[in-house]
Amino acid sequence: MANSPVKKIIITGFMGSGKSSVAKALAELLNYRVIDLDEVIESAAGRSPAAIIQEDGEARFRELERQALTSSMEDNGKQVLALGGGTWILKANRDQIQQHGAVSVWLDAPFDLCWKRIAGAVDQRPLAPDENTAFKLFSKRTSCYELADLRVAVTELKSAEEIAAEIARTLAKRTT
Ligand code: S3P
Repeated sequence: MANSPVKKIIITGFMGSGKSSVAKALAELLNYRVIDLDEVIESAAGRSPAAIIQEDGEARFRELERQALTSSMEDNGKQVLALGGGTWILKANRDQIQQHGAVSVWLDAPFDLCWKRIAGAVDQRPLAPDENTAFKLFSKRTSCYELADLRVAVTELKSAEEIAAEIARTLAKRTT
């Protein structure tokens, strides 16, 4: 018997792996709503994730992130949700995502590509202030990202649209 198409698709991966652009491209392709968790946090708090981490600390940011995840998960429509780079690392968040029957997709980008994008971005990433700190965090988190349902290899040459199409093809195979 064929399964019905998945309603919630979660995009995870390290900072700079391309979560927001891939989520947007995938949502367009599937005609789903796109949600960016960092944007949900920012509009609820009136401050960027970077400002919250710098002013109130990472622990407070994680609380707000958890609340934003809960409200996004309670939305029953079809959605592609781009997480922040640390959301998936917390077991409670992963459990919540699984309980809602979401399919998780890990954008597996090499560290050099992530760092190039982090270093060149306008957005601040207080948890990755320099290459060495970023690399340590990247190495520490990889085993958690591996727990996602699907893995997609990201390279500099693949566009967000190509990656989204690859995810859509894999999802279609799972649901037919
Ligand atoms: C974080 C990643 C950021 C943002 C915050 C914390 C992390 O999102 O949520 O700065 O812990 O990796 P991006 O992955 O979109 O940069």
